[in-house]
Amino acid sequence: RLEKMWLTFGLVMLGVFLLVLGIGTFARGMAPPTSEHHHSIDPEKVMETPPFDKPGLEKIGDNEYNAYMVALAFGFNPEKMEVPAGATIHFQVTSPDVVHGFQIPGTNVNMMVVPGQVNHLSYTFKKPGEYLIICNEYCGVGHQFMATTIIVK
Ligand code: CUA
Repeated sequence: RLEKMWLTFGLVMLGVFLLVLGIGTFARGMAPPTSEHHHSIDPEKVMETPPFDKPGLEKIGDNEYNAYMVALAFGFNPEKMEVPAGATIHFQVTSPDVVHGFQIPGTNVNMMVVPGQVNHLSYTFKKPGEYLIICNEYCGVGHQFMATTIIVK
């Protein structure tokens, strides 16, 4: 009789334990993304989600722009951008397929582009010239051809 009681007690404890574990897992699954700098898009819908359906520059102030860009196998959209010298550009970059890199050699612009996430980085282009944006994260056979240009003049 006493054994049966202990067995029941054990099963109840096991049940409570599993319930707590389940609630914990569920709560973590529901938790919002931790970084305010990332919002997510369904990667399959990146190309049809504004503003990434029409990538490019958006003037938001005195020589200040948002640059909405898509990194995909194997290139960047848009393929070319032109801004006046001294322009501050807030890059907002996402990917519809795999992880890419986003680097402008000669500057401190360097970030990862994760499918379905929008990563931000700002840079002020003081010197006129042509700036290459390259992918520095191996992403497949066309990786070394992934590049686009910003012309600052
Ligand atoms: Cu994209 Cu390497």
